[in-house]
Amino acid sequence: MSTTKGKFAIAILAAGKGTRLKSKLAKVLHEIAGKPLLAHVIEAVPRDIPAADVICIVGHQADRVRECVGSYGVQFVEQTEQRGTGHALMICREALARYENVLVLSGDVPLIRTETIERVRTFHTERGAAMTILTAMPPDPFGYGRIIRGNGDEVAAIVEQKQATPEQAAIREINSGIYAFNVRELFARIGRLGSNNPHREYYLTDMAGLLRADGLPVLALSAEDSTEVAGVNTRVELATLDALLRARKCTELMQSGVTIYRPETCTIDSEVQVGPDTVIEPFVQLLGKTVIGSDCRIRSYTVLTNTQVADGVTIKHGCISEDSIIEDNAILGPYSHLRPASHVGPQAHVGNFVEMKKTRLGRGSKANHLTYLGDAEIGEGVNVGAGTITCNYDGANKFKTIIGDGAFIGSDTTLVAPVKVGKGAYIAAASCITQDVPDDSLGLTRPPQITKEGWVTKKREKLKAKRGC
Ligand code: UD1
Ligand code: CA
Repeated sequence: MSTTKGKFAIAILAAGKGTRLKSKLAKVLHEIAGKPLLAHVIEAVPRDIPAADVICIVGHQADRVRECVGSYGVQFVEQTEQRGTGHALMICREALARYENVLVLSGDVPLIRTETIERVRTFHTERGAAMTILTAMPPDPFGYGRIIRGNGDEVAAIVEQKQATPEQAAIREINSGIYAFNVRELFARIGRLGSNNPHREYYLTDMAGLLRADGLPVLALSAEDSTEVAGVNTRVELATLDALLRARKCTELMQSGVTIYRPETCTIDSEVQVGPDTVIEPFVQLLGKTVIGSDCRIRSYTVLTNTQVADGVTIKHGCISEDSIIEDNAILGPYSHLRPASHVGPQAHVGNFVEMKKTRLGRGSKANHLTYLGDAEIGEGVNVGAGTITCNYDGANKFKTIIGDGAFIGSDTTLVAPVKVGKGAYIAAASCITQDVPDDSLGLTRPPQITKEGWVTKKREKLKAKRGC
C-alpha cells in the first residue's frame, strides 16, 4: 500500500478503564461541561482532517463508547486487552499503514485546543521529526511522565513517575500524552517496546528513547498553557476541569452580552447558546443543547435541559424544563415543570406548581396555578383555572385533551381524556368533564349545593345538652 504523502491520521487513545476514577463507567465517557471527555477530544480535531482519518482506540466498554461518539463518523479499532499506550498503537498498524504521520491524542486530555494540535502538526512536518512530543510545565508535575531533554529541542527519553529517580522527578517539564509520529519509523520499532515496568505494560513513551537511540529526531514542543494538557485520572481532576470549562463558558457568554450574576454558581454546558441582554441569576443550570434568546430573565434555581427559549421570556425561580419550547415573551414559574415535548406559546403564562407534558399551550393562554396538563392541545387565549387536571392515562393508554381558542376552564376541573372542549366554551368550576363540550357552550357536572340554615347552631346546642352544662 502506498502512503499518502504528508497525510496525517489521528489516533485517540480511549481504551483504558480509568482505574483511578473508581467507576463502573469507562473513563472517556465521564463528562465535563455536559459532554463526555472523548467528545471534547474528537471536537478538537482540526477541521481539515476528515472523520474517516480519525481512529479511536476503544476497549473498556467499547460498545458504549462506540455508541456515544458514533455520530461523529470516526473509525474504531478495538483493543480487547489494554496492555498499555504502546500496545494501543501496535494494534493500529494496519489502520495507519496508508498514512505518513499520525497525531496521537489522549481521550483523557480533553481541554486540548485545535490550534495546539495544528501547531504540533506543523512543527512535526517542518522539522521532519520522527516523534514530536507536546510538553508542558504544570504547577505540579506529579503523576505525569517527565521529559529528559537532549540538546535544544531534542528529547532523550520520557520517564514515568513510578520509575523516575528523585532527580528526574524534580523535572518540571511533563509529557502531555499528545504526540506526532512518522508512521514508518514508529512501526519499524514498535515491536521493540518492552513491558519491564511496574504496570507490565507497553509504554508508548518508551518510543522516544528507541527512536533517539537510532539517531532519529525526537523533538519537544511546549504548550503555551499547561491547563490545556491537563489529564483526567481522578474525580478531583474531573471536577477541576469541569469547573474550568464552565467558567470559560460563562466568560464567553458575558463577553457576548449576557449578564450572569455570580457566574461561579451557574452550571452552563458547553453547547448552550444565550442571546444578548439576557440576565441569568445565581444558581441557574443550563444544560445540553439549551438555546435562549435575547432579553430573557432566568431567575435562580431554574434548570433547563435541551430547552429552546425565544426572546423576552421570563422564567421565575425554580423552574425545571426538559426537551421543550418556550416562545417569545412567555412567563414561567415560579416552580413550573415542563416535561419533554411541552410547548409554551408566545405571551403564555405557566405558573406555580403547574406540570406540563407533551402539551401545547397557545398564544396568550394561562395556566397559573396547581395544574397538570398532559397530552393536551390548548388553543390561544385560554384560561386554565387553578387545580385543573387532564386525566390522560387510564392505567394502560394515554389519551388527548383538546381545548379550543378562548375557552375558560373553571378551577378544579378534571378533564377525562379523550375529550374536547370547543372554542369559547366554559367549564364550570369543580366539574368532571367526560364528554365533549361544543363551541361556546357550558360544561357543568357540579352537583347542586344544599344549604341547611342554622344547622350548626342546632348541632352545638345538642352537644351542650349531652354534656349537661
Ligand atoms: C500517560 C503517559 C504519561 C503522560 C500522561 C499524560 C504513558 C505510559 N504515560 O500516562 O507520560 O504524562 O499520559 O496525560 O503513556 N489507554 C489505552 N490503552 C491502554 C492504556 C491506556 O487506550 O492499554 C488510553 C487511556 O484510556 C487514556 C490514555 O491511553 O486515555 C492514557 O492512559 P493513562 O493510563 O491515563 O496514562 P497516564 O498514566 O496518564
Ligand atoms: Ca491519563
